[in-house]
Amino acid sequence: MLITLPDLLPREEARAYRTALAQARWLDGRQTAGHVASRVKANRQLALGDPLARRIGQRIVQALQGDPVFQSAVLPARILPPRFNRYEGGEHYGFHIDNALFRRPDDAGLIRCDVSTTVFFSDPDDYDGGELVVQDTYGEQRVKLPAGAAVIYPGTSLHQVTPVTRGVRLGAFFWTQSLVRDDHRRSLLLQQDVAIQRLINDRAESEIIAGLTGVYHNLLRLWADPT
Ligand code: NI
Repeated sequence: MLITLPDLLPREEARAYRTALAQARWLDGRQTAGHVASRVKANRQLALGDPLARRIGQRIVQALQGDPVFQSAVLPARILPPRFNRYEGGEHYGFHIDNALFRRPDDAGLIRCDVSTTVFFSDPDDYDGGELVVQDTYGEQRVKLPAGAAVIYPGTSLHQVTPVTRGVRLGAFFWTQSLVRDDHRRSLLLQQDVAIQRLINDRAESEIIAGLTGVYHNLLRLWADPT
């Protein structure tokens, strides 16, 4: 399931980050790719400890905490600090599936990548190409969003970034371990949550809302793995 967060960061704030990121110290992205991924990967990334990456990364995580769609759709247990990438002059990242596990910073154990997120800092008019293409259960989806918007998609999905043929594409990406590992189950919980919110907005009978909210929590109890 692909979901967009159209206003994760205010547009002007994201554009200010784009300006700062344009002058950052970019490294060859193949340094952080695994064996297989390095064959299809041609882009640049910021070093994990880069101060600008840390500052914007913390701001993204803070924004996620206040984003009800992200919270409801992802049910986050752990978020890996965001990483930053840059594509220009034909750079691209061919079809791949992200690693299942990553080591957390400061050796705090492993994180399982259940959900991938991409945050856009460039606007669609800034560059040609550079679409995020995700193979979803409903076919291929092509995503290119305004600065400050984000898209979330299952960590299990095959995806690519097409070559950037004009301009520069700046973005962040990160992985989240969800309380609910399975994408289908997360999507059922989200549908239930959205339906309950609608009933609340429509001032439905409180007994109906309480009953459905109970079912939501009992499904979450059945499926959530908070460890
Ligand atoms: Ni990827």
